[in-house]
Amino acid sequence: MTTIVIATRNAHKVGEIRAILGGASQFLMLNDFPDPPKVVEDAGTFDGNATKKAVELARWLAVTFPPTRHSSPLFVLADDSGLEVDALDGAPGVHSARFAAPDSAKSGNTSDADNNARLLQLLKDVPLEKRRARFHCVIALVAIDSQSAIRNPQLFDGACEGWIGFAPRGKNGFGYDPLFVPVGFEQSFAELDEDVKNKLSHRAKALEKLKAYFTTK
Ligand code: IMP
Repeated sequence: MTTIVIATRNAHKVGEIRAILGGASQFLMLNDFPDPPKVVEDAGTFDGNATKKAVELARWLAVTFPPTRHSSPLFVLADDSGLEVDALDGAPGVHSARFAAPDSAKSGNTSDADNNARLLQLLKDVPLEKRRARFHCVIALVAIDSQSAIRNPQLFDGACEGWIGFAPRGKNGFGYDPLFVPVGFEQSFAELDEDVKNKLSHRAKALEKLKAYFTTK
């Protein structure tokens, strides 16, 4: 059986990954390990942050829980995602979780409500046709072999295109969901059922590519 360690403490994310990858894998998350490394997400790109998270956790696991010749294949998976707004040259991007902070490159996370308020403020004079945006997700996968060597990260990405609304709508989801209206829909992500969002989302698209990779491996 393949073991996949996911670099997150978010059980919801693990559930989404398990639902799509399913099958015969065992899934573990950061909460399953004592004192895993805290990775600073300062790479400046989704690719860089996802890779950094996966590689640093894999290095720690390879030393702390070294696989043996008889262990099942061990993979580490990390994702990084955020919102890119064309009228803001791709912001908030990698700073999505801390967009409301005065210096979002250096700050800790800020609340979803504050981040949404900042986005609306910056777009207050921008008409509908210029409010194009997308959620973007990159998943990095690294393998730890039976000699504890870490094999090169593979990257899988997904995007979901949409528009930024003029006011928050809906109660589902998290983050920028109340402001994001996916192409082809009139409701925001926070108004759509979770099942619908989970089929359209940036994470779902990246995970489908990862699933195809595992299937053909
Ligand atoms: P993470 O990399 O998945 O932790 O996402 C970073 C930030 O991007 C989150 O804190 C949210 O602000 C935003 N974000 C990522 N995915 C979503 C989503 O599916 N809906 C709304 N906001 C999201």
